[in-house]
Amino acid sequence: YPSDNIRNFSIIAHVDHGKSTLADRLLELTGTIRKGHGQPQYLDKLQVERERGITVKAQTATMFHRHKFLGSDTDFLLNLIDTPGHVDFSYEVSRSLAACQGALLVVDAAQGVQAQTVANFYLAFESNLAIIPVINKIDQPTADPDRVKAQLKSMFDLNPSDVLLTSAKTGLGLEQVLPAAIERIPPPPGKSTSPLRMLLLDSYYDEYKGVICHVAIVDGALHKGDKICSAATGQSYEVSDVGIMHPELVATGILLTGQVGYIVSGMRSTKEARVGDTLHHTRTVIQPLPGFKPAKHMVFSGLYPADGSDFEALNHAIERLTCNDASVSVTKESSTALGLGFRNMEHTSFPLFLQCHIFLSTQMEGMVQNPAALPSNPKNRLIACWEPTVLATIIIPSEYVGSVISLCAERRGEQLEYSFIDSQRAFMKYRMPLREIVVDFYNELKSITSGYASFDYEDSEYQASDLLKLDILLNGQPVDAMATIVHKSKAPRVGRELVEKLKKFIDRQMFEIIIQAAIGSKVIARETLSAMRKNVLAKCYGGDVTRKRKLLEKQKEGKKRMKRVGSVDIPQEAFHELLKVS
Ligand code: GTP
Repeated sequence: YPSDNIRNFSIIAHVDHGKSTLADRLLELTGTIRKGHGQPQYLDKLQVERERGITVKAQTATMFHRHKFLGSDTDFLLNLIDTPGHVDFSYEVSRSLAACQGALLVVDAAQGVQAQTVANFYLAFESNLAIIPVINKIDQPTADPDRVKAQLKSMFDLNPSDVLLTSAKTGLGLEQVLPAAIERIPPPPGKSTSPLRMLLLDSYYDEYKGVICHVAIVDGALHKGDKICSAATGQSYEVSDVGIMHPELVATGILLTGQVGYIVSGMRSTKEARVGDTLHHTRTVIQPLPGFKPAKHMVFSGLYPADGSDFEALNHAIERLTCNDASVSVTKESSTALGLGFRNMEHTSFPLFLQCHIFLSTQMEGMVQNPAALPSNPKNRLIACWEPTVLATIIIPSEYVGSVISLCAERRGEQLEYSFIDSQRAFMKYRMPLREIVVDFYNELKSITSGYASFDYEDSEYQASDLLKLDILLNGQPVDAMATIVHKSKAPRVGRELVEKLKKFIDRQMFEIIIQAAIGSKVIARETLSAMRKNVLAKCYGGDVTRKRKLLEKQKEGKKRMKRVGSVDIPQEAFHELLKVS
């Protein structure tokens, strides 16, 4: 296939608007998969996706289609690159789009334009892709395609006469989709006579074949047996297998300019396959292709083993879990100031903490990741502090505008834009501190809007902020692992909630425990837990010795799961509960 007969495109959509169903129908229409056979939604390959019903990792499939083009029947090779639509995965979307010249923008005929429709439209628009608007689910009783056409016109200046109307469920209108893709999307622009440049789109580990990379051939051609080299690392490889995804791997021995396919090249781990890297023939000098935006972290999690000796096992498990996914990054942190239980043990900062940029003095400046690294007294050397922000897009039915504005204000959001998409839907743009949205913002937004809000965000700059270190003290001793960073306006509430939670979750011990929250030397909240030994034998009436022994053994087991700070034992639940306060 010369590149003039190739079309590379993605389907982009807000979550649940029918992208995977439409992709499946196109695969069926072209005979790539058999109708009604195999797994429903072929492109949702990963098990996690099927379990959770959302597309996580982009998958790609090649289809063949005959179309009357410029007066004669012509065979086309179409590469459909599936993209995730969920709020957490726009990194995957942008890397998929890098291999495309066009995108089908799918919008639900009843729900209309939603937050990820906006985000995905701009990703495609900024990548200069030909955008084909598709209003899907027109079979629904509540479908209102004319209203959605008007939204697409007012939001994105998309011409109503260019909009396709489909039902991926009933098949209505599907026959127009591939012809529109062929007619409106330009062929890939690469040069077949130039030296090979291929873009590494994705990689995964296959038990039998080893590391399999998805690639797009931008210029030149690749043959089985070729020696290739990574522009990023300089490492060389020999291509032992090359082919297309149809949708299973089909070896072709060759990939030509404009094609998308897979290669196997003896990479030992997916870590070597850098997504966005340019691969070229060894001994050729090429200009590397522009890479992708690095992965933005959307889900944050701190993990530590209950028992320090399990650290290696945990580390190993995390490595296995993440080795297949370049968008996951793992940082190890350690704290030695935690008293016996935590000594020499690595754990992530606690509670959840986001990097902030900080000036400690005119000489000292840097990124701080662990609250424990900050000086306690704000007046002491701390000159200024910046925190990361995001630009949030929120689309909601008009009646929820008031409560969403209050929520955003409470989360320190600054409103940048507020308009109406049509008479029923409002569109808002906010700048918000990242720390305010990672903890439960999305859930709260959904709950105050009865599930109708749609939300998306992108990283933005750091902004100066009144952040303080909040220390937790047990009997006067600060507990590193419980130190947190709070905004000045929230310190009193967060301090109070933290000490109350701790009081609830720490068992009474042989001595009195004073729990305090403090900013520098100023205590802002305090609780006292009076002394008492928890008598596990209290419930035993008779004199059954074995029963008593069992209970005492159980108590000992329970103690193993405690962390000892100074002389105070802290149960694990206390740590877990603290994570919920923000
Ligand atoms: P993610 O993979 O989670 O991003 O969602 P998606 O956009 O791929 O949506 P998916 O194809 O999984 O469809 C979501 C739901 O809408 C499924 O229950 C589909 O059966 C249903 N659906 C898809 N297309 C149509 C349609 O044309 N009409 C109707 N009535 N339902 C549809």
